[in-house]
Amino acid sequence: MDRYVTGAVIRRLRECKKMTQEELAGKIHVSSKAVSKWETGQGFPDISLLEPLSKALDISVIELLSGEDIRNRNRSSNMAKGRFYVCPVCGNVIQAAGEAVVSCCGITLPPLEPEAADPEHGIRTEIAEDEYYVSVDHPMTREHYISFLAAVSDHGIQLVKLYPEGEAEARFRIDRVQKIYAYCNRHGLFQAKPVHR
Ligand SMILES: [Fe+2]
Repeated sequence: MDRYVTGAVIRRLRECKKMTQEELAGKIHVSSKAVSKWETGQGFPDISLLEPLSKALDISVIELLSGEDIRNRNRSSNMAKGRFYVCPVCGNVIQAAGEAVVSCCGITLPPLEPEAADPEHGIRTEIAEDEYYVSVDHPMTREHYISFLAAVSDHGIQLVKLYPEGEAEARFRIDRVQKIYAYCNRHGLFQAKPVHR
């Protein structure tokens, strides 16, 4: 956990639910004075209260801790505008269609900011037998390698996990792909547009 719920968040969420301090306090069996103290920064709710508090405010614990209600924002989600998250501890890769609070190995992961492919991370796409053949001319050692390649369209993602000592290459269905991504474990996320047919 790298953040704790703040009074401002409790107040904002309570007011969104049109609850008084007394009403919120009643739901979680604390005094209204306790709620008032949290909201004015004179104390924090005990960790044992996070679950009942988030239930009372009708959000998840992780949303409560992040201070954001992340639901209902992604209705017109377009996968091509999605974000990638990579866990620095276990290497897990998560792709979300929109904004999300993503947590892995106890760390809240920031969304990766893709950069345009640079000369050391040049992403080549060719069309081979009705597929994209994507390759990156990059080391594939244990210390420094491309750990995944992904092709993202407006309606889906194809992701191929790569491993050290392997080849930095993958094949993807052409299927409306708008962007190709390559993730280097040392240098981060790079993107390129695929070649057109
Ligand atoms: Fe690199």
